[in-house]
Amino acid sequence: MVNNKRGGDTPIQCDLEANKNYAWCTCGHSENQPFCNGSHKAAKATTPIVFSVEEAKTVYLCTCKQTKNPPYCDGSHH
Ligand code: FES
Repeated sequence: MVNNKRGGDTPIQCDLEANKNYAWCTCGHSENQPFCNGSHKAAKATTPIVFSVEEAKTVYLCTCKQTKNPPYCDGSHH
């Protein structure tokens, strides 16, 4: 398991739909941040976190992969 790559330096604002499954990239290799695009397989890296929200809302998803509250930004990129 390799998880030392950052997917970006700042969070990405995302409009999430209610009750839809999203796969948040944990490994940083995805070219579709903050979401998984399957690149973790070739990189032999960590697998995504699948999550959903009960109500549609706008959130800030972590790309630096240092957050203590995945998949959400907690300011750790600073
Ligand atoms: S590409 Fe990073 S978790 Fe899938």
